[in-house]
Amino acid sequence: MKVLVVGNGGREHALAWKIKQSPLVKKLYVARGNAGIWKIAEKVDISPTDVENLVQFAKEEKIDLTVVGPEQPLSEGIVDAFEEAGLKIFGHKKNAAILEASKVFAKNFMKKYGIPTAFYETFDNEEEAIAFVQKMGAPIVIKADGLAAGKGVIIAKTEEEAIQTVKDMFAGKFGEASKRIVIEEFLEGEEASYIAMVKGDKLVPMATSQDHKRVFDNDEGPNTGGMGAYSPTPVITPEIEKEILEKIMYPTLKGMKEEGREMCGFLYAGLMIGPKGINVLEFNVRMGDPETQPIMRRLESDLVEHILDILEGNIDRVNPVWSDKWSIGVVMASKGYPGSYEKGKEITGIEEAEKDPDVVVFHAGTDIKNGKLVTAGGRVLTVTATGDTLVEAKEKVYKAVEKIHFEGAHYRKDIGDKGIKILSQKVIK
Ligand code: AMP
Ligand code: GLY
Repeated sequence: MKVLVVGNGGREHALAWKIKQSPLVKKLYVARGNAGIWKIAEKVDISPTDVENLVQFAKEEKIDLTVVGPEQPLSEGIVDAFEEAGLKIFGHKKNAAILEASKVFAKNFMKKYGIPTAFYETFDNEEEAIAFVQKMGAPIVIKADGLAAGKGVIIAKTEEEAIQTVKDMFAGKFGEASKRIVIEEFLEGEEASYIAMVKGDKLVPMATSQDHKRVFDNDEGPNTGGMGAYSPTPVITPEIEKEILEKIMYPTLKGMKEEGREMCGFLYAGLMIGPKGINVLEFNVRMGDPETQPIMRRLESDLVEHILDILEGNIDRVNPVWSDKWSIGVVMASKGYPGSYEKGKEITGIEEAEKDPDVVVFHAGTDIKNGKLVTAGGRVLTVTATGDTLVEAKEKVYKAVEKIHFEGAHYRKDIGDKGIKILSQKVIK
């Protein structure tokens, strides 16, 4: 069959890499992709959000299955358009994608259906927002309502910083996304990502993982789309997973169905697990980036077969097989990310890094210019490695990272450490 992957990032490279391994797939396309994906899939020069032209292409090429990576096309109705044209596609319809596209919708939805989340209020007016900040005190979390690529969330340590952030947001710092804002209680604990493939009120869990949102080691600096992840994460024990399913995942699917917003695709709950229990920080209607990269390294069964089963109404027989290995992905980013950065820096050393058979380098913001591989985005690569232990995976991944060079490359050096710490404490107990 012919499969089309939509998206340009590291997540899409990992999905394409996995899809390519399926014996069901005869030809793989990517719109628009990056220099890494173009090595394994034919480049379709259409933007992921150009829904009309993507439908046209899929019709002409007789694409049998389309898999959507990012949230933007979903919230712009790519699934609705493909289905109207009689084309098979895996992802949520526009009316379900709102669970990620609007933080105000997501928070109100969670409140209505009793899904645990931080205490909050929503505002479209600066004065009231500032009064709420003054009442709550700091630390406090301020979130732009709309999609902002993981960057529309500010954790203010002081009341002054919070008030300044409110002013910046209403002054249009995040454009349309910050015309409405959510202000919520700051929660302490360990973050973890819980992702499932879902259809209606049923789901199939993916392997667990933990992302690292802040740009610098020890969770310092501003939030990013994610600087690295590992899978599985010991933060999610079997007991915690049971609670996530019972109190968060199933009630979400049921609630969305009741709202007439039935889900079909990936559902990702970003969780904070701490003294206040398990709370949802955000929902995403897609897989995580970079979580997908280490997760796909551990999936042994056929992703395409799973997706087809789900689309054909046979989710009950989907039973993914996960490797026992630990897997880590480290993001190499451009200097300045998540702020402004330069592009066009030559990248070297990937082949050398991939000489270790346990290492796979996924591209994100990369391009080919004058025959050379160059940087073309904030997050440039996700270097992944697997190992029999988390410590071994970490050693391998950083050995690989050190072989790769581009001017100004920045990466966190502590990806996996939180998991290693929890595991060592368990051994001592
Ligand atoms: P979100 O996009 O809502 O997941 O927020 C991005 C990141 O901000 C999360 O991954 C957390 O690291 C942090 N964050 C969001 N909400 C809270 C909260 N209520 N308390 C503490 N940290 C938060
Ligand atoms: N890594 C977090 C996200 O994909 O939203």
